[in-house]
Amino acid sequence: MEPALSQFGVQMSSLTGVRAIMKDIIDTLRASPGQDFINLSAGNPVILPEVEQLWRQSTQQLLASPDYGEVVCRYGASQGYQPLVEAVIADFNRRYGWQLCDRQILITPGSQALYFLAANAFGGYKADGQLQKIVLPLSPDYTGYGGVSLFSESLLAYQPKLEINEAAHRFKYRPNFDQLKIDSSTGCILFSRPCNPTGNVLSDAEVKQIAALAALTIYQS
Ligand SMILES: Cc1ncc(COP(=O)(O)O)c(C=O)c1O
Repeated sequence: MEPALSQFGVQMSSLTGVRAIMKDIIDTLRASPGQDFINLSAGNPVILPEVEQLWRQSTQQLLASPDYGEVVCRYGASQGYQPLVEAVIADFNRRYGWQLCDRQILITPGSQALYFLAANAFGGYKADGQLQKIVLPLSPDYTGYGGVSLFSESLLAYQPKLEINEAAHRFKYRPNFDQLKIDSSTGCILFSRPCNPTGNVLSDAEVKQIAALAALTIYQS
């Protein structure tokens, strides 16, 4: 019997980009047991020994700490674990000379979970029925963005300009600023840098140009 799913339920059970990749990887590995693959995984192809060691040490410290019960057995504040919030503030302020306060920090279970919330907070239908767009300044970009919105019609991706250097056998994706439209119907702008999967890196100047277009829209509305 088919479960009686809501529209949201149907969407959640469909094969989004991320789930399609994970399925591909698992199917491939299962179909070819014993074959010697270089498994580049879906985003974390290698465990860096230094990073693993860091996590191991931190976990051991936590296990030995009197805070263990507080951290593991209780609900915390929805903003995140306070000592971690404070450590993030101290690190960012020292590193970048900023003056962040704790109202500007939110700890989440991961970027995928965060941008699902953020994209749907800013993209989709407003109370007055107007559709706010989630704009990808250039595509291809992270496949997870494909299933990010509860309303697929709110997602708008622009074709890139291709800068081709045939002699060097190289090319680069550039945002096409002649076409990119950021206006009062734009709810949020989404891109990965460096880009997964292409490895493209938007230049500082391009990011600043996108930010300037966004700022212009805020001041106009
Ligand atoms: C651009 C991008 N965003 C988000 C994610 C998922 O990140 P998280 O594990 O923090 O949810 C990935 C993983 O590969 C990614 O490449």
